[in-house]
Amino acid sequence: MARRRFSSLACALALGMTVLGTSVGPITELHISDSHISLDGYRRPAVVASGTFPGPILKGNKGDQFVVTVVNHLTDPEMLTDTTIHWHGIEQKGFNWADGPAFVTQCPITTGDSFQYNFTVAHQAGTFWYHSHLATQSCDGLRGPFIVYDPHDPHKQLYDVDNDYTVITLAEWYHTLSRHQPIGTPPIPDATVINGLGRYKGGPASDLSVIHVEYGKRYRMRLIAMSCDPTFMFSIDNHDMTIIEVEGTNVKPHTINQIQILPGQRYSFVLNAKQPIDNYWIRATPNLGNSGFEGGINSAILRYRGARKAEPKSTQQRRWNLLRESDLRPLNPVPAPGKPRRGGADVSHYLAMSVDVEALFYINNATFTPPNVPVLLQMLSGARPAQDLLPHGSVIPLPRDAAVEVTLPGGLVAGPHPFHMHGHTFAVVRSAGSNTSNYDNPLWRDTVNIGGEGESVTIRFQTDNPGPWLFHCHIDWHLDLGLAVVFAEDIRGTIQSTRPSEEWTTLCPKYNNVHNGKPLERLKHAIVKLPDSP
Ligand code: C2O
Repeated sequence: MARRRFSSLACALALGMTVLGTSVGPITELHISDSHISLDGYRRPAVVASGTFPGPILKGNKGDQFVVTVVNHLTDPEMLTDTTIHWHGIEQKGFNWADGPAFVTQCPITTGDSFQYNFTVAHQAGTFWYHSHLATQSCDGLRGPFIVYDPHDPHKQLYDVDNDYTVITLAEWYHTLSRHQPIGTPPIPDATVINGLGRYKGGPASDLSVIHVEYGKRYRMRLIAMSCDPTFMFSIDNHDMTIIEVEGTNVKPHTINQIQILPGQRYSFVLNAKQPIDNYWIRATPNLGNSGFEGGINSAILRYRGARKAEPKSTQQRRWNLLRESDLRPLNPVPAPGKPRRGGADVSHYLAMSVDVEALFYINNATFTPPNVPVLLQMLSGARPAQDLLPHGSVIPLPRDAAVEVTLPGGLVAGPHPFHMHGHTFAVVRSAGSNTSNYDNPLWRDTVNIGGEGESVTIRFQTDNPGPWLFHCHIDWHLDLGLAVVFAEDIRGTIQSTRPSEEWTTLCPKYNNVHNGKPLERLKHAIVKLPDSP
């Protein structure tokens, strides 16, 4: 059965058909393979889930047990033949072994092998996604939406439609494999793809994604930035957007007409289809490369039922009302843990960030290099004191049942940088671009913009989820160059409560067998343009 779907999808793709709206779950198989795909009229090999980019929508309801068997059919060493999958935004309380990041919570799945991720999403609902979490493999394609529906959604009365066709994924696409990117310069994307379709400059007028709406209906659009690098300015001509959910947190409806969305971030917004029946541009302008708006580059089409099948002639709004993170208020306020003042947490960490001449990134003077033995396995082996956990200097122990405050200075080169936390959603006490702190009813999310020069972001969370949780920049090139730390939360509790599957314990022996225990080679290209030396 799974096989049949796999081949019919691959076939649809080969025929250039759009496969938008394919969904699976909560119990399913994801077949990972190399395949030639053409998203923007240029064919290249890619790593894909079940034959498509983006991969099928993985979905289920709040409270569901997700059982996803990842089957690895990869053969092209240029895009790596191993893989892992991370379920971005899912807290994995009690399931740290199923989180996915290579060499943090597991060894990669080798080619020809399969691995079952098995976890329950007890308390979360909203807009998430999944992606490869091995080096920069996700930039070669392995990414897809992950939607958890809430049968008792408190915002239900605000929209009429919420289905596979109201998911909007933003990404950039390269004509060069991630491991072949030129040395010494940041990779420049060739195209922006929305729901897997786009155009490149000088390329053919290939198909763009079309999102169909009916006049008079209200749509819950689920916007996901699955880019490796660019931040997008997102808008829909002539239409406002009412934000109702941010990364699993329901928020008080807040209407704007432009969203700056960083890699890894998500928003649900209500679009009220009440403009004249016509076609309208959906625009996603990236902050690097490919930035012209010519003949539909960086765009998709919003088409009202009854409108002719043609490209829009609409123009951009003249008055922008840009979403500001600090304006968002949760529907049900949850105060930040700790005392409502600066430094009022049980534990505080300041993460100083820097970059060296080889463009490696450092947090508190350590660059994160994936260890040979996953951090979780090191913890479970129990042999070492916390400060001996590898990689040296990149593992920060956290006590149990503590309010933790993390301060992130802005202004690091090659920004804006989105920082993503595994294992927790956190309260954004102070947002980039804001100089006030909100302890009473802060926004809770899992990926935050750390801002520019002179700005500073403060987040808080409570340690109630034992495990090693990666905290990193979600620009994949930067993660690969070391912009990450691991919070080793409640090491003793981790040893006591972690119950990995039998299969999990076989991953490292198999991986080491295939790779003779050699560490994963890091990309050698310098991804950031260094500032001119004075
Ligand atoms: Cu979206 Cu560490 O990942």
